Formats: sequence, structure tokens, C-alpha cells
Amino acid sequence: MNDDSPLLRKPPDLRLDGKVAWITGASRGLGRELAFAFAGAGAAVLLSARSAARLEQVASAIREYGGEAEVVAGSVADPAVLDATAKVACERWGRLDVLVNNAGVSPAFVRSERLADADWQEVLDVNLTAPLRCCRAALPLLEAAGGGSIVNVSSVHGARAHERLIAYAASKGGLEMVTRTLAVEWVERGIRVNAVAPGYLETEMTAGLRDHERWAAALLGQIPMRRFGQSAEVVPAVLFLAAETSSYITGTTLFIDGGWTAT
Ligand SMILES: NC(=O)c1ccc[n+]([C@@H]2O[C@H](COP(=O)([O-])OP(=O)(O)OC[C@H]3O[C@@H](n4cnc5c(N)ncnc54)[C@H](OP(=O)(O)O)[C@@H]3O)[C@@H](O)[C@H]2O)c1
Repeated sequence: MNDDSPLLRKPPDLRLDGKVAWITGASRGLGRELAFAFAGAGAAVLLSARSAARLEQVASAIREYGGEAEVVAGSVADPAVLDATAKVACERWGRLDVLVNNAGVSPAFVRSERLADADWQEVLDVNLTAPLRCCRAALPLLEAAGGGSIVNVSSVHGARAHERLIAYAASKGGLEMVTRTLAVEWVERGIRVNAVAPGYLETEMTAGLRDHERWAAALLGQIPMRRFGQSAEVVPAVLFLAAETSSYITGTTLFIDGGWTAT
């Protein structure tokens, strides 16, 4: 074989063998699928969310498969929980290579003038402040690993406004600027920071809208592919941004939205 053909012998892959990844919101939905995919790709996974029982189910399935998984139950909005989670990574593996800020909420679908202050605050706390705090909690461990990759889960609504979603859209738009700012600040530490922006996925978060005939039709009318997405269709983009394969990419957002942001 020709020695000048390294890509022929070893094409790019998404393996994460020997890496440690912290995935927030791993108890269900997209985060659960990410946990399985990261473990399947060879990473040891640190899984967090509020539901201890659901997290333990995901971790058990991974351990039965032969993977390594630890769980920490608690809210990402509680800084003490984030410190405790980083401590588990430190004590179990002494490092962290990947952080996926996936936990998110969208509790209200009301016009801006009727949005309760408490709902605004919860969405900003969980979707915007918590990911930044997770990044800061992860920083020493990512540095201990010699650098790493952070992937923030944004949304099509980080770029596209939608009535009745002001808090959610503001939180995700803010998360994209957190992504770009950290990408610039932490590049010299060898840490890449990127985002994925899914369109509507068939998870619990969107069940109310997808089951509502009028809203579902209105949403599908805006999506060129005329269908909702599956979590499994977002997973490869997150793996790509986490893996060395994307070593020259930082500060960017990958849209996985059936063409919505192209319109
Ligand atoms: N579904 C979509 O159409 C869609 C589209 C674009 C972007 N996204 C984003 O994708 C991410 C995952 O969404 P999903 O569709 O998988 O939603 P989901 O099914 O509702 O799952 C949300 C996850 O976040 C966790 N979570 C929520 N609040 C938390 C908190 N305070 N502390 C810790 N964990 C918390 C939940 O676990 P516990 O309840 O156990 O805490 C759960 O694991 C979110 O960031 C969401 O904004 C979703």
C-alpha cells in the first residue's frame, strides 16, 4: 500500500476510546441517546439530570454493554451539584475530555406579555446560566486532559424567532454567544467550543406541540423537509464536534433542522 495514503488506510472516524464525556440531561430524550452513542463510541460517560432512577437505568444499560458510566442526580441550576459532578469526574478518571451541555427546558408557550417572571427565570437559569457554569466547572478537568471539546445544544430558535417562545429563544440565542465567546477565550487552552442547533425533535419536550393539530401543521409548514427530526439524527453531529475529527472547528453552530434555517 502507498505510504502517502493515510486517509485511505485510516479514514476519519468518530471513536472516543479513552475519552471521558460529561453529558447533562442524560435521563431521557436527546441526552439519553447521546449517552448511549458516546459509550458505544468508547467513551466513559458521566451522566447528570434530576431523575436519579432514569439516569441509573441508562448507566446500567451502558455497564451491561461493557462501558463505563457514573451518574450524578441533581439540577444543573444548582452550582453545588455541578461541583459535585466535576468531583466525580476528578476522583473516578482524573480528567474530562468532552462536555455536552444538553439539559434544557421549555415550560411555557405563551405570548411575551403573559410570560410569568418565574418561567422566564427558570428557562434562563437552566438553558443559559447553567451551561456556562458547567463549562467553568469542567475547565480544570479539560485542562488536566490537555484540552478538549465542549458541545452546547442550542436550537433552531437560537436563530429563528417564534411567537410564544421568547424565553426559550433568548436562552438559546444567548447560548450561541456563550459558545462563540468561550471558543475565542479558551482556544489557547486547547478547548474547542461549538454548538448544535436541532429543529423540532420527537421527544417529550415537544409532545404538546406535535400533538396539537394546528401548531403541528404550522411548524411542519416552516420545515422544508416537512417532518420532525429524531434524536438519532442529531447524535452524529455531536459526536463529530466532540471527536478529534473536527479538530479545526471551534465557535460554530451546526444546524440539524430539516432545512429550516436555510429559509
Ligand atoms: N426536542 C426538541 O425539539 C429540541 C429542539 C431543539 C433543541 N432541543 C434541545 O435539546 C436538549 C434536549 O432536549 P430534549 O428534547 O431531549 O428534552 P427532554 O426530553 O425534555 O429532556 C430534557 C433533559 O434535560 C434534563 N433537565 C431538564 N431540566 C434539568 C435541570 N434543571 N437539571 C438537570 N437536568 C435537567 C431532563 O432530565 P430531568 O427531568 O431528569 O432533570 C432531561 O434529561 C435541550 O437543551 C433542548 O432545548 C430540543
